[in-house]
Amino acid sequence: MTYGIIEPISRLSGQNNNFMITVEHLTKRYGSTLAVNDLNFSVDAGEILGFLGPNGAGKTTTMRMLTGYMPPSEGTAKIAGFDVLEDSLAVRQRIGYLPETPPLYREMTVQGYLHFVASIKGVSAGDRPRRVDWAIERCGLTERRHQLIRKLSKGFRQRVGIAQAIVHDPPVIILDEPTVGLDPKQIIEVRNLIKSLAGDHTIILSTHILPEVSMTCNRVVIIQKGRVVATDTIDQLLNRSDNRTQYELKLSGNLQALQAALAQFPDLAGVQTQSDGDNHLVTVTTNGDTDIGPELTALVVQAGLRLYEMNRRRATLEDVFLQLTTSEDTAEDEVFASETAADS
Ligand SMILES: Nc1ncnc2c1ncn2[C@@H]1O[C@H](COP(=O)(O)OP(=O)(O)OP(=O)(O)O)[C@@H](O)[C@H]1O
Ligand SMILES: [Mg+2]
Repeated sequence: MTYGIIEPISRLSGQNNNFMITVEHLTKRYGSTLAVNDLNFSVDAGEILGFLGPNGAGKTTTMRMLTGYMPPSEGTAKIAGFDVLEDSLAVRQRIGYLPETPPLYREMTVQGYLHFVASIKGVSAGDRPRRVDWAIERCGLTERRHQLIRKLSKGFRQRVGIAQAIVHDPPVIILDEPTVGLDPKQIIEVRNLIKSLAGDHTIILSTHILPEVSMTCNRVVIIQKGRVVATDTIDQLLNRSDNRTQYELKLSGNLQALQAALAQFPDLAGVQTQSDGDNHLVTVTTNGDTDIGPELTALVVQAGLRLYEMNRRRATLEDVFLQLTTSEDTAEDEVFASETAADS
């Protein structure tokens, strides 16, 4: 068995004293839909964890359970040692949460709303002005502080959503797709804000955008159909892709003979085909970095196809993500030994 990541001994042995967040066998069913299926992972204090997965993977459902907004069907989640179900009040005090749709009061000003949130989060009246100023400043809202929320653009409303998540200075911050709807400049600013909050805060952010995690996070949990399919550092994920090579072949003719030949070819990670009538784009992915270009060309000629173009490229982080999240039944045993090691 190979491990994709070297985990601290404590993580492997299940001692979770240093973890700010621990999730064990977390499961959520909506009727017959298994939205979250036996999730296990943990987050160290001060870490930024990326929670990555395609639409419908179960990111929001997991976050809603972590923040105490929805009970799990099975399993447990603990924030700073407090159980989200049994100690939900203690959990809510320690968490800042940016939901998918932040519950903003449209008729309040930015500053008025943040004062209101600070009061319901238990910030003392004496501390409130300082905390609100801090959140306004950190989220780049200074020039908008007296504006009504309903008059703000979507990007600025998203900033107010982040400001309300941090105004009470919680040790744990959970952000559901924090950069959705922001323009490129705002995206960079919000990523920098998130990075600047790490260290003092433990952060989980969900996204389905890969550059987001590689620019912001230390580690990533990738989920697909409610299950963890990988737990790794960004570097380790990139290492996974390092040896993989892709060949894109533009061809015309009947593909059958080529497909039969490729099925016999050793050490291929996958073959994908897009066809438009007799024209095809065939993508062949290998597990290694040995150049199989000449062999592929020979197979194409033997199969009686016309080859117009062949490109070779190293697989990227995006390819790894797609491979992990698009397979029908993920081969957990084989590809995701690191996850098993990390979470058992
Ligand atoms: N209230 C609900 N009732 C029934 N099914 C739900 C409910 N909320 C979510 N689901 C289902 O649970 C699964 C996970 O949904 P979830 O919203 O957690 O995914 P997600 O990873 O956040 O997706 P997205 O990237 O689109 O936000 C989906 O199949 C979804 O249809
Ligand atoms: Mg979601």
